[in-house]
Amino acid sequence: MVRQDLYRHCTALMESADIPDSDFDTMCIFQDVLKDKLPMMLPFMTVDADKEAAILEMVDKRISGIPLQYILGEWEFWGLPIKVGEGVLIPRPDTETLIEDILKIAEKSGMTSPKIADLCSGSGCIALALKSELPSADVYAVELSEKALAYLKENVELNKADITVIHGDVLSAATAENLTELDIIASNPPYLTAQDMDELQVEVQKEPETALFGGNDGLDFYRAMTPIWRKSLKTGGYLCYEFGMGQEKDIEKIMIENKFTDIKFSRDGGGIIRTVTAKKTEV
Ligand SMILES: C[S@@+](CC[C@H](N)C(=O)[O-])C[C@H]1O[C@@H](n2cnc3c(N)ncnc32)[C@H](O)[C@@H]1O
Repeated sequence: MVRQDLYRHCTALMESADIPDSDFDTMCIFQDVLKDKLPMMLPFMTVDADKEAAILEMVDKRISGIPLQYILGEWEFWGLPIKVGEGVLIPRPDTETLIEDILKIAEKSGMTSPKIADLCSGSGCIALALKSELPSADVYAVELSEKALAYLKENVELNKADITVIHGDVLSAATAENLTELDIIASNPPYLTAQDMDELQVEVQKEPETALFGGNDGLDFYRAMTPIWRKSLKTGGYLCYEFGMGQEKDIEKIMIENKFTDIKFSRDGGGIIRTVTAKKTEV
């Protein structure tokens, strides 16, 4: 089959299975298999049989509900390549808001080589983005899941980043006691509520529950982590979280209860209040 016919066949298959972005997904699959950024510039080029089979296999996987990112095995975050697959959360563009917040704090506070911990690091996307922007920073990435940890290590290596990977539980005081004098703590912990978990999109159901579920009201991690990790921050250091839509009032309360000041929220690209930064001003 020539590219154009195969492309139409793939989008039609996906559309009949109600895959929402069939054009985008087909294009990404073509680019990946044909190793061509603009595959449709040559619409009448014949696709080799083995490549056609590979493309159709990926389309089948997509139709079965597997996220495009898992099928491709790699996704971009902050312009960096990030390996992903079953067992690790796919980095979301919303999370780039947290990177922007932290870079502003580092600039404003004149931090040239801050000590940073990325808690619940998953693929390592936050730690890697921060290290790429602040090369002199001393960056630590903490993750509990063995499967996610394997991706985290692979991504640190892929991006040739000098990041210390820690296999640990962020809810344990012992983990925090081994990581002290931090300038910045960044975290995108699991924050979906029990109701959110009941209403997950088919694709998101394929991502690990341990990366998504934050307890009944989605706030378990913030409630538990904030007092534990406050002790690991320097006075003058910042705690920076991503959270779910509509959680800002509860997050603000948790920050105030734990004596944080300068509490500021930012909106993501979709206009949703998505992140908080807060300063530790007293011991
Ligand atoms: C929402 S994902 C965020 C992943 C990544 N930071 C990102 O922004 O794409 C939360 C991560 O927390 C990890 N996690 C869950 N419970 C944990 C715990 N008690 N200690 C450390 N990591 C944990 C999950 O395995 C998952 O990788």
